[in-house]
Amino acid sequence: MRQRLAVANWKMNGHLADVAQARAIADGAKDMTGADVLICPPATLIAEVARALEGTAALVGAQDCHAAAGGAHTGDLSAAMLREAGATHVILGHSERRAAYGESDAQVRAKAEGAWAAGLVTVLCVGEDEAVRDAGEAEAFVTAQVEGSVPDGAGPHNTVFAYEPVWAVGTGRSADAETIERMHGAIRRALLRRLGDAAEAIPLLYGGSVKAANAEALFALPQVDGALVGGASLKAEDFCPIIAALA
Ligand code: G3H
Repeated sequence: MRQRLAVANWKMNGHLADVAQARAIADGAKDMTGADVLICPPATLIAEVARALEGTAALVGAQDCHAAAGGAHTGDLSAAMLREAGATHVILGHSERRAAYGESDAQVRAKAEGAWAAGLVTVLCVGEDEAVRDAGEAEAFVTAQVEGSVPDGAGPHNTVFAYEPVWAVGTGRSADAETIERMHGAIRRALLRRLGDAAEAIPLLYGGSVKAANAEALFALPQVDGALVGGASLKAEDFCPIIAALA
């Protein structure tokens, strides 16, 4: 049985006034014992959100980190800094970072190693864009991303995977059940080839236009262990029904 997890990725949204939403999410999830809840605000809010969640079971994460432990990297944050601020997890390789900053699989892998060294669990993201899907290459593309992004030594103690088709992110157009099952199957096979039996227990989330209306059907799929949610995670009133469908 894999750990189930609902992840809120606030992206570049959220100010001090929104910390109350994090607390409301944690309070809304307090009777749900079947799944973990992880809130990833912008880095400026990690410490505040961590404080607001004290006494709850909800966790705080970051949205990216540098691979190095420190040094001359203007504007970047190390995993140890994020850990110190209260983060337990870090999202890496999100498609928005791969697209905007040209992050490669090798860079994602190096960041994951840096994150583990600081004690963070990594949420590693993979997913194809529309052109790759239309070319019939989605499975091969995502399999290569998995093989290139995941370091040796990955297991359920340090890694969560997320399949996020780029064409489904922020579009309102979630992937259908057949696509998700096929892609999650391909990712699981790639993880098993790469890591052996340790891969079996790594949670595999789906992300891309998850909302209350489609969450229940999504979580009924046997290969889906949770969700990575953007737009519908900003307000407790939208995110709590998604958590309820999972737990
Ligand atoms: O990290 C979250 C994903 O990019 C999904 O975003 O739920 O707004 O489609 P979305």
